[in-house]
Amino acid sequence: MPGQYSKRLTSTVLQPSDTKMTMTCTIRQLDRDDANAWASLRREALEAHPLAFGASIPDDPGYLVEFFLTRCASNAESVVFGAFIDGSLVGIVGVLRNAGKKEYHKAYIWGMYVAAGSRRGGAGEVLLRTAIQRGRSWSGIEQVHLSVSDVAYEARRLYERNGFQQWGREPRALCWEGNCADEIHMGLDVRGSTC
Ligand SMILES: CC(C)(COP(=O)(O)OP(=O)(O)OC[C@H]1O[C@@H](n2cnc3c(N)ncnc32)[C@H](O)[C@@H]1OP(=O)(O)O)[C@@H](O)C(=O)NCCC(=O)NCCS
Repeated sequence: MPGQYSKRLTSTVLQPSDTKMTMTCTIRQLDRDDANAWASLRREALEAHPLAFGASIPDDPGYLVEFFLTRCASNAESVVFGAFIDGSLVGIVGVLRNAGKKEYHKAYIWGMYVAAGSRRGGAGEVLLRTAIQRGRSWSGIEQVHLSVSDVAYEARRLYERNGFQQWGREPRALCWEGNCADEIHMGLDVRGSTC
């Protein structure tokens, strides 16, 4: 049902009346056909916010497409969601289950980005909740984790208001062109919760 997060989502259409959104925004899981659009938005994110992401801009123009396909096309417990406005991809987020046997109870959210012209309309929050919900739906998941740099103030606010709590901080974790940022590690306990 639009605007509700209590069920597993593959595609959700949010109308302005559902949230604070001023435009209709569709959230759905991305697939192989979305690889180029995702890679383009991901590159934009890395270029615009170098200290908000641990990843660097790749030299190889095909790398991001390959990365997307590796991360999303081969594993049901590693997915990427996209937010679309008027048919254009404006937001992205990924969630995956940790692979190690002793970390199998944890999911990790990565690559959150909303294009500058589409921010403050609710897309980021819906993407985040969709990713949390999907991670939580995987059998045995108890915690959802993410990392955010201290320069990404908007993202930290978004995560905090959705229940994530800081459990660690790495000073000067990322340095780029003479500037450094701490990396803040946050977690959400999803045992027995409803989103
Ligand atoms: C973080 C980001 C994804 C938020 O996307 P968004 O679509 O603007 O987020 P929403 O409109 O859903 O906002 C949800 C909440 O996030 C917080 N937030 C978002 N933008 C904010 C801002 N400029 N200042 C303060 N809080 C902000 C607020 O709590 C907001 O709720 P509110 O509007 O009721 O106050 C977006 O700003 C972005 O892509 N930033 C650059 C990349 C980045 O930092 N990614 C995170 C990497 S870990």
